[in-house]
Amino acid sequence: MSLLVTFEGPDGAGKSTQIQLVARRLEANGLSVVKTREPGGTPLGERVRAVLLDPGDCAIVPRAEALLMAAARAQHVADVIMPALSDGRVVLCDRFSDSTLAYQGAGRGLPTENLNMLQAFATDGLQPDLTILLDISAENGLERRRSSGTPMNRLDQDSLAFHERVREWYVQEAKAHPERWVLLEAGRAQDDLADEICQVILDRSGQAAARADANRKSE
Ligand code: TMP
Repeated sequence: MSLLVTFEGPDGAGKSTQIQLVARRLEANGLSVVKTREPGGTPLGERVRAVLLDPGDCAIVPRAEALLMAAARAQHVADVIMPALSDGRVVLCDRFSDSTLAYQGAGRGLPTENLNMLQAFATDGLQPDLTILLDISAENGLERRRSSGTPMNRLDQDSLAFHERVREWYVQEAKAHPERWVLLEAGRAQDDLADEICQVILDRSGQAAARADANRKSE
């Protein structure tokens, strides 16, 4: 049963590790899984990612940042996400449209209505079925990033206040929309966290299959 599951959270929340752990568990349960990420996931998206994350001296104003994220997303939806969903696969996507609302909206201060229009255009209206928020304080997330040994990218290097606005947006959004969001504490033991996320996805995919079955029978 196809399902688009997005993973969101402040930088350093451990989304990519969780995606690896959860994918293995879902596959062991017989599901066909596609792991992907934003910005990225396609040759165009990975090039755009390199430009966006490069801490070098190329200035990027907030509107350009939002448009580049959206361009990468449009290619990603068309080439990777929609085909996988059409094949009945579970897509685990490391960041999606909510990252634009969190970072370019709450973080940079771009108006939500403009960003919503941009998302609808880039994704052709595609929304996640389920969004996992791995929650961590901005300070702890950035500390994890610093101590991980990977170089700090352009967005990591922004101010603590910027990252705090992003985190605040995520928590408020998750609490306002519990039908789509599941908020989990990112600091928990990695295997426990992956077990819980896997169970949530299996439950959702079972519910979606039951709904599709009921619809077929009523036709
Ligand atoms: P990550 O893939 O390591 O999480 O890094 C991607 C960075 O890009 C992260 O700081 C969040 C940021 N980002 C946005 O600002 N807007 C977006 O729409 C997306 C997808 C990512």
